[in-house]
Amino acid sequence: MSAALDQSLQGDLSAMQKAGTLKTFRHITGPMDTQVTMAEKSGPVLVLSSNNYLGLADHPEVVAAGKNALDEYGAGTASVRFICGTFSIHEEIERALARLSHTEAALTYVSCWAANTGLIPAIAGDQDALVSDELNHASLIDGCRGSKAKRLVYKHADMADLEIKLEQVKGARRIFIVTDGVFSMEGDLAPLPDIVALARKHKASVILDDSHGTGVMGKNGRGTAEHFGVEGQIGIITGTLGKALGGAAGGYVAGSGALVEYLSQVSRPQLFSNALPATIAASAGKAIEILEREPQRVGRLHEITRNLRDGLKKLGFKPLEGDSAIVPIIVGDTAFAIKMSQMLLQEGIFITGFGYPVVPEGTARLRIQACATLTDEQIAFALRTFEKVGKQAGVI
Ligand SMILES: Cc1ncc(COP(=O)(O)O)c(C=O)c1O
Repeated sequence: MSAALDQSLQGDLSAMQKAGTLKTFRHITGPMDTQVTMAEKSGPVLVLSSNNYLGLADHPEVVAAGKNALDEYGAGTASVRFICGTFSIHEEIERALARLSHTEAALTYVSCWAANTGLIPAIAGDQDALVSDELNHASLIDGCRGSKAKRLVYKHADMADLEIKLEQVKGARRIFIVTDGVFSMEGDLAPLPDIVALARKHKASVILDDSHGTGVMGKNGRGTAEHFGVEGQIGIITGTLGKALGGAAGGYVAGSGALVEYLSQVSRPQLFSNALPATIAASAGKAIEILEREPQRVGRLHEITRNLRDGLKKLGFKPLEGDSAIVPIIVGDTAFAIKMSQMLLQEGIFITGFGYPVVPEGTARLRIQACATLTDEQIAFALRTFEKVGKQAGVI
């Protein structure tokens, strides 16, 4: 790299440092669980900042499934999928994902980022239109930006604005409403029944990214569609295997047989990038099996989220309202959020402060995420610690 480029990049990094927005990367020295060990802090640390919603990331069966697949299939296919890169285990997990999503078929990608950015440009071209929620995840935004379709953004979860935008794209060959199921920074839900009704009225298809809803929402963890009773009514669902479903990596698109067949023919990450490693397909497949076998994990996750939220409110915090397992507390500016997360780590709680540019300036937050395997003692410890740090920081 040229010295001039390095100098220029150093300048940008120094500016972030000065603004207090430079992110610090923490190091976990063992498996992800409710309690971990970290390089930065001696002794056990309670994690309230992971997407390991069902506590399956280090579940013995999930780990064993990955190890067995490594023995059975080796490291990978050393090829993109259409050349010689599909293992039988890919078909198995895709059947399981379709079952979970209430769709005919599903197709895996190496991440949900790849799924969203591989899906949207493939099905929305220059005669089409994308109408997208303003708070959608960056991968949906980049997926839309990568498409030649007309792109309109509606105000967050605002159905009147969505309808105005749908009127503006009347006549397009294909119209897509693009939304997260659970919005990752707010923890609130897309109003799916209204979105489904508007999609019907305007002959649009819904693309739902349920990365934070799968395994979390609904009585059985089948996602935001189950929560709202609209399963089978969402045309296209995308999601990740990197959160509730084992926590390693991987993503998918679930939809009709025609959609999946079409994507396997033309979606660029399918054509030009290797398939999901067998270890991950097997671990995530096992995670789905556990979810279907033990729906009580989802019930416990809901109970824990309620207890955390109610406990925080009793202490004087004002978490954002929502039905998901994400409980954000807005604290103001980015540097302050980072400082609070450092104070919490000193007390034995790992929770990341999110600030600009992940969320708008002035709305930096601590995002608490529940996990189904948190114990009542751990929740009590978390609340005691939040009280101590909240008072020290002058937040309560
Ligand atoms: C809503 C949403 N979509 C997509 C992604 C990307 O998932 P992956 O890590 O599988 O690329 C995330 C991860 O943060 C997410 O929250």
